[in-house]
Amino acid sequence: MDLEVVILAAGKGTRMKSKLPKVLHLLGGKPLLAHVIETAQSLEPKKIIVIYGHGGDSVKHTIAANMDQPIANNIEWIEQVEQKGTGHAVQMAEPFLNDASKVLVLYGDVPLIRASTLQSLINKKNSESPLSLLTMNLPDATGYGRILRDIDGNIKGIVEQKDANQEQLKIKEINTGILCADAKPLKGWLKQLKNNNAQEEYYLTDIVAMVANKYLPIYAEQAKSAIEVEGVNDKKQLAKLERCFQRQQAETLLLNGVTLLDPERIDIRGKLDIEPDVIIDVNVIFEGAVKVETGTVIGPNCVIKNSTIGANVKIEANTLIEGSHIAEQCTIGPFARVRPGTHLHKGAKLGNFVETKKTDIGEGSKVNHLSYIGDAKIGKNVNIGAGTITCNYDGVNKHLTEIEDGVFIGSNTSLIAPVKIGKQATTGAGSAINKNVEEKQLAIARGKQKNIDGWQRPEKK
Ligand code: UD1
Ligand code: CA
Repeated sequence: MDLEVVILAAGKGTRMKSKLPKVLHLLGGKPLLAHVIETAQSLEPKKIIVIYGHGGDSVKHTIAANMDQPIANNIEWIEQVEQKGTGHAVQMAEPFLNDASKVLVLYGDVPLIRASTLQSLINKKNSESPLSLLTMNLPDATGYGRILRDIDGNIKGIVEQKDANQEQLKIKEINTGILCADAKPLKGWLKQLKNNNAQEEYYLTDIVAMVANKYLPIYAEQAKSAIEVEGVNDKKQLAKLERCFQRQQAETLLLNGVTLLDPERIDIRGKLDIEPDVIIDVNVIFEGAVKVETGTVIGPNCVIKNSTIGANVKIEANTLIEGSHIAEQCTIGPFARVRPGTHLHKGAKLGNFVETKKTDIGEGSKVNHLSYIGDAKIGKNVNIGAGTITCNYDGVNKHLTEIEDGVFIGSNTSLIAPVKIGKQATTGAGSAINKNVEEKQLAIARGKQKNIDGWQRPEKK
């Protein structure tokens, strides 16, 4: 039987107090809805139908930009113009559901639901039962729909908090909202929904009593943890789920042999591919796609975004690295800013207060202190003295600085691009170099020092 997933994501999310549609708020750097879509996709469904409403096309476009193409292609977007309840939302999907499928209903604001839990729910729904529900026992069930069972324990229906009587409010087994049903009977039940309830909504939950009245068995699967069925209604809940999500990721890293000096103080907002025996100090943030190879040590307060870091690299405190490729055995920081397009080859070294951009730095070369190196190609075993900058921008265009193997750039050299320094050449400290320097030459370009005898300093008036 094929699986089709319907994700409800049309709600406004008033309590978020935000202009952004609720399902586009980020968890671990990714929209809530994108988490749910990816989990749904991992179940290999025939189709994913997303019911959207509030936020309109911005939801569609943002999600499409966040998803890999094959997943995006598997999504059918259906607009629910007026939100008349969860039953009404699933009615929108009805024409697109294949009669022979199983339908799994998920929520765009319940981001941490696990694929394994959903798989058990789907498996519970067998040939004799057209419906299975994901439920959970909660010490405090306030706000949730309650599961009604008869004295034999058979599920008879669901009553919403707002429609429940005193006895029903005492029930601790709640409806998570997530369910799995056979498409054909589901379509029939959806047609019979009425909105004669406290909220004047078409409740999806009313189908449960319809099934029970036909004496068909309904199975319930218990969620493993409250976190995976928790929805985001306000920023407080979002912050709570963010912490849970980060803790889960940190635990996975620890189990994979990564050392975290404090698992509570790491944030991963993207895909982190990391090998065992990497050591990560506190307050490190990873964003986008990052790969880190074994033996690398990352100091405190570093931000690493869309980059690859080779083995046995040392990244010292307060270093920012973005869009760069760092080969094995490099040393970077503290306080370095490695901007997009930087490629450090094996054993290269960037020290404190060094900024690089679109720069290739060869094996064993060093830029140790207070430099800006942009649009540059630097060979092997080059030493760039403290305070050296590439003057790569003439106010209109960017130009290249080329420095060949074994060059020694004196401290505080301004390299006015385009310019090329040949192999083994040297520049004198404080030079402004705007002409090419040939192999093994020494270039000095600075005012000559004058020493004036008996100089009288001005006196204070
Ligand atoms: C629903 C369930 C309740 C369950 C709870 C779990 C019903 C009637 N009640 O209640 O039993 O305990 O979820 O959190 O189903 N949505 C739409 N279109 C609509 C209405 C809702 O897309 O017209 C979406 C919302 O964006 C949200 C989800 O459906 O993601 C749930 O809707 P909501 O109104 O929050 O339902 P609850 O009252 O929480
Ligand atoms: Ca809700």
